[in-house]
Amino acid sequence: MPSTDTPLVRLRDVHLAFGATPVLKGIDLTVGKGQAVSIIGPSGSGKSTILRCLTGLLKPQRGELTVAGTAVHQLHGEAAHRPLRQRVGFVFQQYNLFPHLSVLDNLTVAPRKVLGLPAREAREQALALLAKVRMQHKAAAFPGELSGGQQQRVAIARALAMRPELILFDEVTSALDPEMVGEVLNVIGELTEEGMTCVLVTHEMRFAEGISDQVYFTEHGVIVEHGSAEQLFNHPGEARTQAFLQHALGQPGRRRIPDTYVLRNLSPYHLSV
Ligand SMILES: Nc1ncnc2c1ncn2[C@@H]1O[C@H](COP(=O)(O)OP(=O)(O)O)[C@@H](O)[C@H]1O
Ligand SMILES: [Mg+2]
Repeated sequence: MPSTDTPLVRLRDVHLAFGATPVLKGIDLTVGKGQAVSIIGPSGSGKSTILRCLTGLLKPQRGELTVAGTAVHQLHGEAAHRPLRQRVGFVFQQYNLFPHLSVLDNLTVAPRKVLGLPAREAREQALALLAKVRMQHKAAAFPGELSGGQQQRVAIARALAMRPELILFDEVTSALDPEMVGEVLNVIGELTEEGMTCVLVTHEMRFAEGISDQVYFTEHGVIVEHGSAEQLFNHPGEARTQAFLQHALGQPGRRRIPDTYVLRNLSPYHLSV
């Protein structure tokens, strides 16, 4: 059972502005080891900014931010952030595989150069991870020869190849054709079941509901409310959350029939929530 006893991520009163424009206005967020936490909310509410703070890509002006025991708000300079980036995997909407490298090489280059894995071990790990995301048959292919969903699964395997303690997913299915969304969500769902700590920004509400230990609803740079998936989706306390979910899901208080593409391959665990 995932717990919040040993938070892997803790944000306390995080404030961030771009110039004079405040974007995060006092974010509190906690992710326990082994938890899956989803951040949902309207476009522009600050979700991606929160994830970028977690990797140290953006610096909050105020507040505390701890990731896996590292006080990120106290790090200064690129070199100081490097160990953090190795511990935190990040998968974006735009799969950014190296186009000139084969799928296999995409998965071995950083583990060899950064983690110092011997070539043979890096290759064995890569093949095992490709099998995990059901892409082993494309090990020799180049990214340009793959569909968007396939590239995204390789991107997830590449993040895993760095043996991160935490993976961040920022709208990883938003650019995909609908028929490819399910195959990527299935891979993420399996990772969360295996106990990988994940923070997801997603518009796939049913998926977020099915896999999340905690869900945070953001708007205008604040956390409007958070709670278990059951609480947040079925008994939202705030009018703003209700309005957002009503818009995102359809009828208020009615559970829409889940999308078939999410249902197709998910295990009963996901559907029982
Ligand atoms: N580098 C930047 N410079 C200036 N404004 C930015 C930058 N990145 C994001 N913003 C602004 O910050 C707000 C939050 O953005 P973002 O975190 O990307 O929202 P979300 O992911 O919820 O859609 C938006 O108004 C966006 O325009
Ligand atoms: Mg975003």
